[in-house]
Amino acid sequence: MLPPSVSKTLSFLRAMTSPSTFFRGQVGDGREQRLLEHVVAEAEPGNPKSVLDVIDRYTASKGTWFMNIGDDKGPILDSVVERSNPRLALELGAYCGYSAVRIASRMKDPNGLLISIEMNPQNVQIARKMVEIAGLSDRVRVLEGTLESCLAELKSIIRDELQLSAIDLVFIDHNKNVYLKDYLQLKEEGLLKSGSVIVADNMGFPGSPSFWRYLKKNAQELHTVEHRCKFEYIGWISDIVTVSTCV
Ligand SMILES: C[S@@+](CC[C@H](N)C(=O)[O-])C[C@H]1O[C@@H](n2cnc3c(N)ncnc32)[C@H](O)[C@@H]1O
Repeated sequence: MLPPSVSKTLSFLRAMTSPSTFFRGQVGDGREQRLLEHVVAEAEPGNPKSVLDVIDRYTASKGTWFMNIGDDKGPILDSVVERSNPRLALELGAYCGYSAVRIASRMKDPNGLLISIEMNPQNVQIARKMVEIAGLSDRVRVLEGTLESCLAELKSIIRDELQLSAIDLVFIDHNKNVYLKDYLQLKEEGLLKSGSVIVADNMGFPGSPSFWRYLKKNAQELHTVEHRCKFEYIGWISDIVTVSTCV
């Protein structure tokens, strides 16, 4: 048996080289379903911290890597949620629901809602279940699809149901090639306002060059702070989380 740190590195390399990770949003070896089963068995229902701890411990002890924001970068996200106190947050890329649990559990507004858009139907089911175990189903809605395919539904929830005009916090953590396109779509649809905060994960690794260049060139539109950190669950790779405030 390999030590967990070695298995985790192999598990990470497998995920990074699997076309399924990129095209389907699951590694292709069933690890996401096994993670959910483990959380069902081990986490304390109704306790978001217990759900997050069980997920973080699973990757350390079983040596299986997951593309959750993880316990090293997670506190950056927590502090943005606490500081910006969102009534409405949007996440692009739910995966297994780890960051959704993190964000929703830090939202202080009693009417706070997180809408998470996820393209993979199996991940949608896993994320919904993860959120349910954490006791946060009334604060999180997971929509299946992409921003483009969910746009009409998203706008209807925001404008008709919640009677709001814009999103307070956006967490971008899906396909790195569409970070910029999706940001621009939110902006063009008038779904952002002055003070809206955009958090983008993995800006250091694997990186999103077009969004990175846009942030650098448009400092008058988005005031950005870069947080240098470690890549999720892999300490020897550096990463950057950007936190941008719409001017
Ligand atoms: C890095 S994972 C998200 C991790 C999650 N935010 C967390 O920290 O727990 C990326 C997810 O984005 C999804 N995805 C990829 N492209 C997408 C798109 N265009 N729209 C919605 N989801 C997408 C994938 O299926 C995958 O589940």
